[in-house]
Amino acid sequence: MYNFSFHNPTTILFGKDQLNGIEGLIPADAKVLITYGGGSAKRSGLIDKVKTVLGNRKVVEFAGIEPNPHYETLMKAVEVIRNEGIDFLLAVGGGSVIDGTKFITLASFYKGDATELLKHGFTPITSDTVEKVLPIGVVLTLPATGSEMNNGAVISYDHGKYPVMSNLAYPKFSVLDPVYTFTLPAIQVANGVVDAFVHTAEQYITYPVDARVQDRMAEGILKTLIEIGATTVTEPENYDARANHVWAATMALNGIIAVGVPQDWATHMIGHELTAMFGIDHGQTLAIVYPALMAEMKEQKGAKLLQYAERVWDITEGNDDERIDKAIAKTSEFFESLGIKTHLSEYGVRAEQVADVVAQLEAHGMTALSETGKITLEVSRKILERAF
Ligand code: NZQ
Ligand code: ZN
Repeated sequence: MYNFSFHNPTTILFGKDQLNGIEGLIPADAKVLITYGGGSAKRSGLIDKVKTVLGNRKVVEFAGIEPNPHYETLMKAVEVIRNEGIDFLLAVGGGSVIDGTKFITLASFYKGDATELLKHGFTPITSDTVEKVLPIGVVLTLPATGSEMNNGAVISYDHGKYPVMSNLAYPKFSVLDPVYTFTLPAIQVANGVVDAFVHTAEQYITYPVDARVQDRMAEGILKTLIEIGATTVTEPENYDARANHVWAATMALNGIIAVGVPQDWATHMIGHELTAMFGIDHGQTLAIVYPALMAEMKEQKGAKLLQYAERVWDITEGNDDERIDKAIAKTSEFFESLGIKTHLSEYGVRAEQVADVVAQLEAHGMTALSETGKITLEVSRKILERAF
């Protein structure tokens, strides 16, 4: 196991009616900016509920943070913060609203041009460059990204999707009430299961470093998602299934299974290009790329793929190659069973466009991906061709 330091400052309020608990976590004299998306939280009555809990605090609303949040939209909120003297941000939504709100807080008091925040890649933004940040609270409405308990955001800008990382951006608290996710369309629930699944896999199916706790936790998350996947998609108001979905998604990307182990993230980087170029939902891009990546990287990932086959899918028959192939097939079948298509061709992408995707990967410096850096542009091309 590798050395690590670990700290996660986000308070989690999990379960029914936990929203009331935010009253004690936001200063009584705070002026709060509530950020949300295209209107689902307004229509469901959640924004009104949040306002009731905020009581006499002054409240300003910022609506319209779109899926795959855009830099330009977020900069409008930055202006509101500066003009209105806001001192607390409350994000009500899914990954896009939470990510957008993290970017808003970093950009509001950034010392230079805010587009520079997009150039850090995975290098965290620190207080050297950001004068101060406003605290963020979260009310989660979509279990998928883990953004509610991590320090990352993904921001769309100029035909690209840029990771923005900063310990300054951890939410102070997150309310995870599974009931607030009941209004989700089935496709978003399925996307959420796939996203959590692939987050876990990208930190688990790498190479062995004898990190037994992390491995067993990752396997627990994957098995949970397999167990509840169908139910959480087809029975939107099944509280127990959704509660397990929500917590699995948070645990998949709050840093706990990432400590002391190698991490891949190639599927995410390739997937981000597919979203930026073709508008395919984040979860769907992962369902397209991940099975193809596992097949292409069978040798590099062999030991962990075998462990995955045996411990997650209970595959114990056949030679090593057969077991791995079976586990990859099971993974695709699982995604498809949720209603997510796993082939690029099924999303209207043409074979000759693979070259354009590879060119974008190159333009964004994604030339040595995965836990070993061995996914070159040529390997990415092979993965994308396999994904057809
Ligand atoms: O905008 P509204 O009207 O709210 O509708 C949203 C949106 O259209 C809708 N929705 C959300 N909660 C709902 C609901 N509809 C009905 N009822 C509810 N309770 O769902 C749609 C999708 O929302 P979005 O927030 O875009 O989805 P998701 O949570 O999957 O977030 C995706 C974004 O997160 C980034 C992705 O790249 C993408 O931009 N990621 C962030 C990560 C992180 N911060 O750690 C890691 C991930 O790998 C991912 O890259
Ligand atoms: Zn993801």
